[in-house]
Amino acid sequence: MMSRYIHWLILASLLLLACYENRSLFTLTLPAPLVVEVNHTGATRQQCNLQREFPSLSSGSRREKQSTPPLLRLLQSRRHPEEDNDVVRRTYQGEYGWRFQSYQSSPLEEAFYTDVRPFLKKRNYPPLIQAYRRKAEELLRESEGRVAPSTINDTNLDQCDLEEQQGVMLSESCHTKIDSPPPSKELFSRFIYEFVCLGDPCDAASFPSWTGWRLNETHTSYIEPLFGTMRHPRVFLDSGVSEYVLNKEYMMIDKWALKHLHTRYQTTLRRPEAVHSNGGACKVSRDRRSSLFVDLGASTYLDGGGGASQKWFVDTAACYCISFTDMFLFEATPHKPIEAWGVVPDYLHAHYRWYNYPVNASLESWRNPLNVLLSKVRPDDTVTVKIDFDTSHLEAQIIDTILHFPELFQTIDELFYEHHVLMPYMYRYWRGWYNASLNLRDSIDVFRALRRKGIRAHSWV
Ligand SMILES: *[C@@H]1O[C@H](CO)[C@@H](O)[C@H](O)[C@H]1NC(C)=O
Ligand SMILES: *[C@@H]1O[C@H](CO)[C@@H](O)[C@H](O)[C@H]1NC(C)=O
Ligand SMILES: *[C@@H]1O[C@H](CO)[C@@H](O)[C@H](O)[C@H]1NC(C)=O
Ligand SMILES: *[C@@H]1O[C@H](CO)[C@@H](O)[C@H](O)[C@H]1NC(C)=O
Ligand SMILES: *[C@@H]1O[C@H](CO)[C@@H](O)[C@H](O)[C@H]1NC(C)=O
Repeated sequence: MMSRYIHWLILASLLLLACYENRSLFTLTLPAPLVVEVNHTGATRQQCNLQREFPSLSSGSRREKQSTPPLLRLLQSRRHPEEDNDVVRRTYQGEYGWRFQSYQSSPLEEAFYTDVRPFLKKRNYPPLIQAYRRKAEELLRESEGRVAPSTINDTNLDQCDLEEQQGVMLSESCHTKIDSPPPSKELFSRFIYEFVCLGDPCDAASFPSWTGWRLNETHTSYIEPLFGTMRHPRVFLDSGVSEYVLNKEYMMIDKWALKHLHTRYQTTLRRPEAVHSNGGACKVSRDRRSSLFVDLGASTYLDGGGGASQKWFVDTAACYCISFTDMFLFEATPHKPIEAWGVVPDYLHAHYRWYNYPVNASLESWRNPLNVLLSKVRPDDTVTVKIDFDTSHLEAQIIDTILHFPELFQTIDELFYEHHVLMPYMYRYWRGWYNASLNLRDSIDVFRALRRKGIRAHSWV
């Protein structure tokens, strides 16, 4: 007992010293599972615990964890409906942070949802295009510099280093308009976030004032409206001409939320005027989170029906300074391993897990990608999910599961989903994989349901 105590004492003093003398040394030498026991500027032992886990997934014996998939364990732990299912509240007790408050559809999204009604069974929408031409063109103009690029030729890693050093979010090649005035509220839909006590009760003395944030202050993030053919607005304007069908320059990925939600504000990013204030304890250590990518219908690194989507995600994540640390890729079509791995850049092999079998959407299956995700994810991680494997009833089952479990919908940041329904113009490309009993309004409903749970859900190409 005594020797363990001394061991901790020495380690804590060394870390403190390292923390004061050289922050980057601190980052480099910190072993992963570590409790830093310091108390200045209000940090508590619990806040510095790097082993943060979801309460309902961390309980149970090893044997249970090995034999029962996480989704089943979550289901079993929810036998009492009155139980607090808000995992943010349960996970971050006593801590302040940014959390999702609401999703607000733009007037454009609302109007389109109504006006599309008479056209739902039709495959072509000429009068609707006519009515929305001006708005769609405005939308395209305002999207410039705010949407993710379709191809990325500079992954911007140097800028990410600079960001880390300076502690501010810089505008860069993925978001050239990060600092400009917000886009039109008339066109773009919004996520509202609020800086609050994440899990009551919070001790006012531990408020992270060094960040510059104020209690109850709100932040608005914008996202592309659910509109047109649910892809690039040009596809709608050009009556489905193929040129823009695979173009990804309409989706707004939110770097701010990726960097700030929950306690991620501890990372490096503070309000500019707060940058020079003295940081609290654990500021650096709490930045140790992973960036997970789960891809359902992954194809191989450079291929895919919609172009090289894996590569696009890898480049885009790098561009937003959240390079993936773990990739879980599911592809049903058999490929020769030597060929599939042959095209994966060397540096990615350490992060790359390629499951070359069909996904199983059952909660009981270890082959359900959501069970794989829940086995690995920690609350502070950023999570990106793509769902596009062209089997609409299984895709729908996966989406339902996400909407059902707070461990999933409160953790997934960005979600990309190609919802295969009766969609104008897209029937040419979808050759009957779609669910013909669902229409564009049903699709908008699904994306709204996801967004209202706080997931920034994009209709994927
Ligand atoms: C940290 O120290 C202050 C002042 O010594 C004390 O008031 C506070 O209760 C301590 N906080 C914790 C969580 O130990
Ligand atoms: C990178 O893309 C920009 C525009 O997006 C272009 O102007 C530039 O020439 C490209 N650079 C290279 C090396 O291809
Ligand atoms: C923040 O909001 C909470 C809950 O609405 C309220 O009780 C509290 O007084 C507010 N605090 C400040 C400083 O606005
Ligand atoms: C999916 O997983 C469940 C549970 O493990 C299993 O019973 C079922 O047969 C699987 N379905 C397929 C198509 O493999
Ligand atoms: C199509 O969608 C309807 C409504 O959600 C559902 O009942 C039906 O099972 C789906 N059909 C297929 C083939 O997925």
